[in-house]
Amino acid sequence: MTSDDPIAWLNGEFLPRGEARISPMDRGFLFGDSIYEVIPVYQGVPFRLDEHLDRLKRSLDAISLPEPHSREEWKAMLSGLIEHNGGGNLAVYLQISRGVAPKRDHAFPDPAVEPTVFATTSPVEPPAADHPDRAEGVAVITLDDIRWSRCDIKTTALLANVLLRQQAAREGAVEAVLLRDGFATEGAASNLFIVRDGRVVTPPNSHLILPGITRDLVVELCREHELPVEEREISEAELREADEIWLTSSTREVVPVTRLNARAVGDGQPGPLWKTLARHYVNFKRKLCGL
Ligand SMILES: Cc1ncc(COP(=O)(O)O)c(C=O)c1O
Repeated sequence: MTSDDPIAWLNGEFLPRGEARISPMDRGFLFGDSIYEVIPVYQGVPFRLDEHLDRLKRSLDAISLPEPHSREEWKAMLSGLIEHNGGGNLAVYLQISRGVAPKRDHAFPDPAVEPTVFATTSPVEPPAADHPDRAEGVAVITLDDIRWSRCDIKTTALLANVLLRQQAAREGAVEAVLLRDGFATEGAASNLFIVRDGRVVTPPNSHLILPGITRDLVVELCREHELPVEEREISEAELREADEIWLTSSTREVVPVTRLNARAVGDGQPGPLWKTLARHYVNFKRKLCGL
């Protein structure tokens, strides 16, 4: 195994990823008729695995796709995959599509076909939260949230997210923060937090955002450490006037945003509440993964 050709898992078999073959008639390829998870792994230990597998189940239920494996089977496959790829710090990508149907038809195949299950790993960069005192913030831009109204499903049908993220990249930003009907929802591939007057605010879970595993953990950590936190809508004006802005995701954890639409957020440096939260996050991670 090399990081260029990691060992992947396809429909019950471990194999070098370069040798994995999926039919062009796969509904994931044709329609984006598939869902996925990204699970961070620290020192060989998957982080918040039950929460990720719970969300996987909710995504499958939302698209009426029966879960192809039991929780024990998922866990056994994932530990095999991590072991085959040398353990350490990784991100696991797991995708399930509705499978390969004999003809291209939008309606589900009847009778149902076997789903396609694919998993692979990639190395991860050390996140900003690991070194709060050395962290530099990132730049973001705001864009209209052009996605559909079931953003709670973690589907691979990500064309809108791809176009939004690409527009951000073109403008030298790492993420697009999305606005719908005058309110900020989330990033193209991350959840959103702001700090105003010492209070941490994040939009409530709904069909308009992905219920992020990192988001929920950050809310939990705020509550545990008595940082005032509110789950409520964030208006565009509040976003622009925020003292701090953070983005969260499984691979980047909690990232401080220091520029919004080319203007400084707060004093243009990662804020004090971000530093406090980043320390709690790192401690939590260390305890959970026995680091
Ligand atoms: C649209 C969107 N929102 C939020 C997130 C963050 O979710 P999590 O913390 O579970 O990685 C992601 C992650 O990829 C995402 O794609």
